[in-house]
Amino acid sequence: MKKHIVLLPGDGIGPEVTKAAKQVLEAVAGRYQHTFTFESHDIGGAAIDQHETPLPEDTVEACKKADGVFLGAVGGPKWDQLPGHMRPEKGLLGIRKQLGLFANLRPVQAFQQLLHASPLKEEVVAGSDLLIVRELTGGLYFGEPRERRDNGQSVVDTLSYKRSEIERIVEKAFESAQVRRKHVTSVDKANVLESSRMWREVVEEKKADYPDVEVEHMLVDAAAMRLVTNPSSFDVIVTENMFGDILSDEASVLTGSLGMLPSASVRQDGVGLYEPVHGSAPDIAGENKANPLASILSVAMMLKHSFGMHEEAETVEAAVHEVLHSGFHTADLQLKDGVEVSGSQMASKVIEQISANDTTENIMRCYV
Ligand SMILES: NC(=O)c1ccc[n+]([C@@H]2O[C@H](COP(=O)([O-])OP(=O)(O)OC[C@H]3O[C@@H](n4cnc5c(N)ncnc54)[C@H](O)[C@@H]3O)[C@@H](O)[C@H]2O)c1
Repeated sequence: MKKHIVLLPGDGIGPEVTKAAKQVLEAVAGRYQHTFTFESHDIGGAAIDQHETPLPEDTVEACKKADGVFLGAVGGPKWDQLPGHMRPEKGLLGIRKQLGLFANLRPVQAFQQLLHASPLKEEVVAGSDLLIVRELTGGLYFGEPRERRDNGQSVVDTLSYKRSEIERIVEKAFESAQVRRKHVTSVDKANVLESSRMWREVVEEKKADYPDVEVEHMLVDAAAMRLVTNPSSFDVIVTENMFGDILSDEASVLTGSLGMLPSASVRQDGVGLYEPVHGSAPDIAGENKANPLASILSVAMMLKHSFGMHEEAETVEAAVHEVLHSGFHTADLQLKDGVEVSGSQMASKVIEQISANDTTENIMRCYV
């Protein structure tokens, strides 16, 4: 299969983890006889420095033509004092909007080797394996008007959703649950907000189309509590933009390291932008300390969600599990035992594992 991938390395550790992502894609292409072509473009602070805008037009055009987009990270102290429209994050928000990526998928999985690094008791976090499906392009962050009024004495933000916007994200959640443990928790604030009451109505209507999926409704405050008291009870959580923003960050600390968390932002036709959850980590940029596993797991999501390459995605995920199981870890994982490796060495270990499996299978094929 031929696929064209746009790489947006961005700032700080972004270029380091993007290099690892590209190497893993090349290893997958080699193993499965795919042809992956790549082009790199600027975004965020790097784009501000080169083009005086966080999202140059040629970056947008290239992304629109791509089969998949990988983004490293944007931002850093160098650009913190710039006015709002020139901030690196504008590049990220802008590209999601331009590509119409309405669904943010954030899996959170507790790795056995890393349970001790969780802020929760090991027995509470053990077995957690959940997916947050967050609406990304509507709600309070985009509603108009939003403005100061009465000479700055009052302020308004607007929470608005079209029924069709709720329907498509709810469908995405049901579809995701069908290939997982078939359980959806829809999170809202229906005791207070009209938008949440419509959200609940849509979930109730849509569930008839997915009879194999069990549904529960939960208020956002209760969901926030259950995420820290019983995270393993969740499978798929679906929610609107702001609730999803907060809950996905809460969920992200459960597993102990930001360096392990992948994410995807997708639309109905499968085109997507894949990125690690972490930021540009300016404190370790250029030191080869960045954990590339969040990026490598984001590549697995790209293979699965945008390219329909499920076996390839499982090979990448299995390689990550195997490397961790063998005791290799980067500094951020703070394992008591095992061997600490640099970011690039970690990427090489995963690639070796992908290729090692290849060799074993090839040998097996020769004997059959
Ligand atoms: N999606 C994005 O591009 C994104 C997301 C969050 C923050 N940011 C930006 O990144 C910059 C730094 O933000 P921050 O410090 O709050 O968050 P951060 O995620 O960059 O870093 C938080 C801490 O985690 C560590 N860390 C993060 N990723 C790591 C990795 N892969 N391996 C090892 N350690 C890792 C960092 O060293 C740091 O100590 C800011 O400019 C912020 O706006 C960007």
